[in-house]
Amino acid sequence: MKYGVNEHGYYGDFGGAYIPEMLYPNVEELRQQYLNIINDPDFKAEFDDLLKNYVGRPSPLYHAKRYSEKYGANIFFKREDLNHTGSHKINNAIGQILLAKRLGKKRIIAETGAGQHGVATATVCALMGIECVVYMGEIDMARQAPNVSRMKMLGATVRPASSGSKTLKDATNEALRDWIANPVDTHYIIGSVVGPYPYPDMVARFQSIISEETKKQLVEHTGKELPEYVLACVGGGSNAMGMFYHFLDNEQVKLVAVEAAGKGVDSGHSAATTFLGHEGVLHGSRTILMQTPDGQVVEPYSISAGLDYPGIGPQHAYLYKINRAQYVSVTDDEAMKAGLLCSQMEGIIPAIESSHALAQLEKMKFNLTDNVVICLSGRGDKDLDTFIKYFNY
Ligand SMILES: Cc1ncc(COP(=O)(O)O)c(C=O)c1O
Repeated sequence: MKYGVNEHGYYGDFGGAYIPEMLYPNVEELRQQYLNIINDPDFKAEFDDLLKNYVGRPSPLYHAKRYSEKYGANIFFKREDLNHTGSHKINNAIGQILLAKRLGKKRIIAETGAGQHGVATATVCALMGIECVVYMGEIDMARQAPNVSRMKMLGATVRPASSGSKTLKDATNEALRDWIANPVDTHYIIGSVVGPYPYPDMVARFQSIISEETKKQLVEHTGKELPEYVLACVGGGSNAMGMFYHFLDNEQVKLVAVEAAGKGVDSGHSAATTFLGHEGVLHGSRTILMQTPDGQVVEPYSISAGLDYPGIGPQHAYLYKINRAQYVSVTDDEAMKAGLLCSQMEGIIPAIESSHALAQLEKMKFNLTDNVVICLSGRGDKDLDTFIKYFNY
């Protein structure tokens, strides 16, 4: 694959595994085994069966007719919001729990921002009868409270991260600390295409089901498997990488990744990583991140907990640098407006994360015959409180 990882774990200058020595055995075990495990026919059969009968895949590719009229193109939503647990995160959680079982791990840890990855991980741990600890920033625990209750109901322990901006970055730091302290029996289910190699590649492979299905579904809808545009929001970048994956080598397909501008890219309250960031190391990989001139991570901000992260996965950093994908950003206000519009024009309440991708439509010019696919990465139930407060309902 032209834009895939090389045998050393890099995408161009980005990627690698910048980890403390204590984690080396865990990460090395994963590196040596992940491809053998996930390419094994028994693994594939179990993964496919759970995606079909537990998650409810394939997720529909919905032709949004009123949106198509409004924006003057054929607009399709890839409905990851309809998956069990309400987002794309479950695809990766299922893949990694099956992998952890085969590695003989007895305990699972995870980080979460919006709580969707935490819920997905708590869900698969309940399914397999494995202990689960989820780290979550204190601010995110408050703004995504329904997901904290769901994780507890599913039997997981939720541990607050109270350092830094008390959001996803800080939860990731805590999870990494836990893994260093428990290297033998614990598997860390990272929720995005971030972290040391092989995580970015492994998570992208598990999420690639999104574009694999989309290609087939586009043939049914349009007679062609390639659209003109593909759009997705980017926190760490897993729904975007899943949505881009099988289109990467088809260079006529324009890939658009939407980051969170927060209160504006120049406001000092933003998570627009490619706009504000520079090359460096974050959470085990060389990538692009928001940092001060002396290399301290800048605290990010977005109204959306899932996009409130100061970095992007290394494959995104590469696609950005070589211009294979376009990276843009959308403010809180633009995203909230887009979430309301989708609710009232299509009868679908999207997650605030996904609303960022929808908001980008306002800024694009299409031809009437263009086919445009947007990854609707999750549903908005978890965000109702934020929407209601924002619009003063
Ligand atoms: C619904 C939804 N979309 C998108 C994201 C962002 O993550 P990623 O960029 O890994 O897809 C999250 C993260 O929590 C999410 O819950």
